[in-house]
Amino acid sequence: MSSRLLFPVMAVIVIVFLQAAAGESEMNIVVYMHDNLTGRHQTSFPVAGLNGSSSNPGKFGTLVVISDAITKRPYVNTNPGNIVGRAQGTYVNTNPVTGLDFFMVFTLIFQNMEYNGSTLEIQGTDRFDQPQCEYAVVGGTGKFRFARGYAVVTVESASGPNAVLKFNTTFLVPS
Ligand SMILES: *[C@@H]1O[C@H](CO)[C@@H](O)[C@H](O)[C@H]1NC(C)=O
Ligand SMILES: *[C@@H]1O[C@H](CO)[C@@H](O)[C@H](O)[C@H]1NC(C)=O
Ligand SMILES: *[C@@H]1O[C@H](CO)[C@@H](O)[C@H](O)[C@H]1NC(C)=O
Ligand SMILES: *[C@@H]1O[C@H](CO)[C@@H](O)[C@H](O)[C@H]1NC(C)=O
Repeated sequence: MSSRLLFPVMAVIVIVFLQAAAGESEMNIVVYMHDNLTGRHQTSFPVAGLNGSSSNPGKFGTLVVISDAITKRPYVNTNPGNIVGRAQGTYVNTNPVTGLDFFMVFTLIFQNMEYNGSTLEIQGTDRFDQPQCEYAVVGGTGKFRFARGYAVVTVESASGPNAVLKFNTTFLVPS
C-alpha cells in the first residue's frame, strides 16, 4: 500500500480507538466462590477422566463440572443479601507431571438485585502451587455486555478439598 493511501486508514483507526476509550468505564467486583468437592453440600463433581467419574480431580485429565455458590462475603450464610449467584462451568486438570494446573472455564451468573440475570465469562489457568492466579474476563451479558478484563484469584480458606476462592474482578464495559 502506498503511503498516500496508508495515512487516511491510520487516521480512521485512531478516531475509532479514542471513541472506544472515551465510552468505557472500569468496574470492580469482588465475590467468593465456594467450591465443594465433598460433603453434604457438594457443588463440584468429577464427571470424566482416566478412571471415569471416579477419577481424582488432582490427577491429569479429570474433568469437573461445577455449580458453586458465589457470595459477597467469604462465609456462607442464608442471608439473601450475601448470595450473589452461581459459578457454573467446568475445570479440567491439565498437568500430567504435578497435577497442580487446572484449565478453568465457567460463567459467573449474578442473581442478586443489582445485576440479576447478568453474567461474566471467566477463562484461565489455575496453578495450585502459586499464591495467586489471574483468569481473564472474556465477555459478559446483560449489564456486562462487551466486558473484558481480569480476575485476581486467591484461596480465602480451605477445608480438605473444599475451598473458598476470592475473585477480585476488574473489567471494562461500555458506559
Ligand atoms: C462447603 O463445605 C464446607 C465444609 O467443608 C461447609 O462448611 C460449607 O458450608 C460448604 N459450602 C456450601 C456453599 O455449601
Ligand atoms: C485411577 O485408578 C488407579 C487405581 O486405583 C489409580 O492408581 C490412579 O491414580 C487413578 N487415576 C485417576 C486419574 O484418578
Ligand atoms: C431475579 O430475576 C428472576 C427472574 O426474572 C426473579 O425471579 C428473581 O426474583 C430476581 N431476583 C432478585 C433478587 O431480584
Ligand atoms: C481488588 O484489587 C484491587 C487492585 O487490583 C485492590 O485495590 C482492591 O483493594 C482489591 N479488593 C479487595 C477486596 O481485595
